[in-house]
Amino acid sequence: MNPNEKNEFRPTMDAEFTTAATNVSQIPTDGLPQVAFLGRSNVGKSSLLNALTGRKNLVKVSSKPGKTKEINFFKFNQAFYLVDLPGVGYAGVKFEKVSEMQSGIRAYVEQSKALRGVVYLIDCKIGLQPIDVETIEGIRSLGCPVLPVMSKCDKANQSELAKTRNSLLKILGEDIRPLRLSTLRKIGLRELWQEILSTVAVEA
Ligand code: GTP
Ligand code: MG
Repeated sequence: MNPNEKNEFRPTMDAEFTTAATNVSQIPTDGLPQVAFLGRSNVGKSSLLNALTGRKNLVKVSSKPGKTKEINFFKFNQAFYLVDLPGVGYAGVKFEKVSEMQSGIRAYVEQSKALRGVVYLIDCKIGLQPIDVETIEGIRSLGCPVLPVMSKCDKANQSELAKTRNSLLKILGEDIRPLRLSTLRKIGLRELWQEILSTVAVEA
């Protein structure tokens, strides 16, 4: 491993849980910028939020897919929100429930005026799935920037990493640089934090 990849990320901001929205009418309207975390179920969205806050249990994490069911808002330093979304395409819940959640996510991206970007997580080992492509294209078609993040890179070998990266370049363009992340090994956290701060235009 490249020694520079080992990140000594230390959270520098206070974070508080503010809202669990089950409906778009419940999302915060205070105008503070928002960045949302999205990706298939179990890809590591909630774990990432915990890592960025430095608190193990601020967000509930599970080895069972489908843990996060609401749109959860976490306020950082009274300056911006990070938003934990339910996993896309989770097959263990009923179809109606899935479509409800999907339209919930779509409705959120469409209607939240304060949403500045979506951090989209793809499990390095599993790679880009059709539902990822559909979701990423859907978000971009609504005019919202997508920041691709390759999660759980501690589990993947070089050829899996290259395959996931190449499939992302194919749909997002050759000039993007998907960020490699491992919450477990603390790889990529500092880079991602910097990207988030510049997206919400807040200084560290
Ligand atoms: P849903 O809420 O179901 O959509 O899942 P999620 O995307 O929020 O995933 P969550 O953070 O709950 O993590 C799912 C599982 O992956 C847990 O068992 C985590 O411990 C594990 N996990 C998270 N990040 C990493 C990582 O960087 N590396 C490895 N190896 N495992 C991880
Ligand atoms: Mg979750």
